[in-house]
Amino acid sequence: MLKIEGLCKNYGKTRALIDVNLNLTPGIYALLGPNGSGKSTLMNILTLGLRADSGQVLWEGMPIEKAGKSYREILGYMPQQQGLYDGFRGVDFLSYIASLKGIPKKQIKEEVHRVADLVNLSDRLKDRLSSYSGGMRQRILLASAIMGDPKLIILDEPTAGLDPKERIRTREIVRSMSQGRIILFATHVVSDIECIADEIILIKKGVIVEKGPQSELCEKMGGLKDLEAVYMHVFAEEQKADDYSHQEV
Ligand SMILES: Nc1ncnc2c1ncn2[C@@H]1O[C@H](COP(=O)(O)OP(=O)(O)OP(=O)(O)O)[C@@H](O)[C@H]1O
Ligand SMILES: [Mg+2]
Repeated sequence: MLKIEGLCKNYGKTRALIDVNLNLTPGIYALLGPNGSGKSTLMNILTLGLRADSGQVLWEGMPIEKAGKSYREILGYMPQQQGLYDGFRGVDFLSYIASLKGIPKKQIKEEVHRVADLVNLSDRLKDRLSSYSGGMRQRILLASAIMGDPKLIILDEPTAGLDPKERIRTREIVRSMSQGRIILFATHVVSDIECIADEIILIKKGVIVEKGPQSELCEKMGGLKDLEAVYMHVFAEEQKADDYSHQEV
């Protein structure tokens, strides 16, 4: 279980996370919020790329900084920023990640081909990453995140830039992996997570404003018909303000 207690993070005067508390048990969680709401900041903290100013994250009762290597081994992370090694061929990149994850040498080849097949990149494995399209880069990052047997999978906008077919494929991969795992999926696209998420976590300006199963949220907000309506109900004001400020610029 992943327990997040009282997380706060500021960047200078920007309050990116304000007292975030969550208990995650196996299942699919959608972290839904507009641009700049704190999704990546939270994910960076959960994946040890960033330190919180206060609060703590516990994996099976142990602070994640202390759990160190054993925590990294159960973690699969797909970052939002594509820091790819352009000179690598696909197969080298995945093999490299596999060895970092401690997958035994004898199993690496099989595992690389298994995940490449899942994201539909088997026929591009011999090409260099520099020749991949944006969507292919997304997919090879997803492949690297699901490699091995991660108990905690953190995906930061995994469907950004994907065509509809690959978007659906990604959704199905996530759905198929949910058994016995915690999957946290950040997005601002409602259709990515509608129907597959067990719980929706709505984040607004660094604050978790609502969480629960989709049906519960719809009911709680006065019988809304779907998640899109929930999104608009919670974020419309902010969106209007953003649109206005964009107009001003
Ligand atoms: N390295 C940084 N330095 C300063 N401010 C930052 C930094 N990273 C994020 N922020 C600010 O923190 C807030 C949350 O940003 P974050 O990237 O976590 O949002 P997000 O929900 O992931 O947005 P998006 O949907 O655009 O990816 C924003 O106000 C952003 O401007
Ligand atoms: Mg982000």
